[in-house]
Amino acid sequence: MNKLEMLYEGKAKRVYKTDVKGRYWIEYKDDATAFNGEKKGQILDKGIVNNKMSALLFQMLELESIPTHFEGLLSDREQVVKAVEILPLEVIVRNVAAGSLAKRLGLEEGVIMKETVLEFCYKNDELGDPMINDYHIAAMGYATKDQVETIKNYALKINTLLQKFFIERDLKLIDFKLEFGTYDGKVILADEISPDTCRLWDANTDKKMDKDRFRRDLGDVESVYQEVLDRVQK
Ligand code: TMP
Repeated sequence: MNKLEMLYEGKAKRVYKTDVKGRYWIEYKDDATAFNGEKKGQILDKGIVNNKMSALLFQMLELESIPTHFEGLLSDREQVVKAVEILPLEVIVRNVAAGSLAKRLGLEEGVIMKETVLEFCYKNDELGDPMINDYHIAAMGYATKDQVETIKNYALKINTLLQKFFIERDLKLIDFKLEFGTYDGKVILADEISPDTCRLWDANTDKKMDKDRFRRDLGDVESVYQEVLDRVQK
């Protein structure tokens, strides 16, 4: 497979066309942003951690009957994926209050949710990814009602599978963000699952083991990303 022209450069990845029909070439960068791009930096070898961790988790999810875009690793920072059309939604799953939910509802971080919370945001950087509900999604045509139902079912199942996977590695899954796309008329999981897109706390100490270390200037950023990859690979 050969890499052709770049289709899109995001904040953390570049997407290239390939000479194979229905396949994209993804390159994970070390660039890190927060607060809708207001804070910018680099996390050394983050691209390697996120590429390898996403690959491993997507393969695990495929074995559990979750369809994903993942096709195969190309190198430390590169992978081949199905050429999905991304739905303009960020799907957030929360088990424990943290981040914007803690702020919005005036909760202390760490409060356990009595039920899993699902949120949708409209994926639009200029608008700062505003939160929306099923009615906005239908009214704006961001996804069909059937697609929303499929996404909700997949998101909840993924949450169950990931919680189990991470706790076996002494990590609590606080919350995470998913993106879905369409391929061959079906909804499949796309984008990535990594310390950029999950909140993970050490199960014994509650140490933050994710991008909050960068967002909040907590230090140990690179070593924590490596530690998460090491635990995930066990
Ligand atoms: P939040 O508490 O800031 O809304 O974040 C919820 C989860 O979503 C958290 O695990 C981090 C992840 N997330 C992203 O992956 N991308 C984003 O742009 C934002 C704001 C959050």
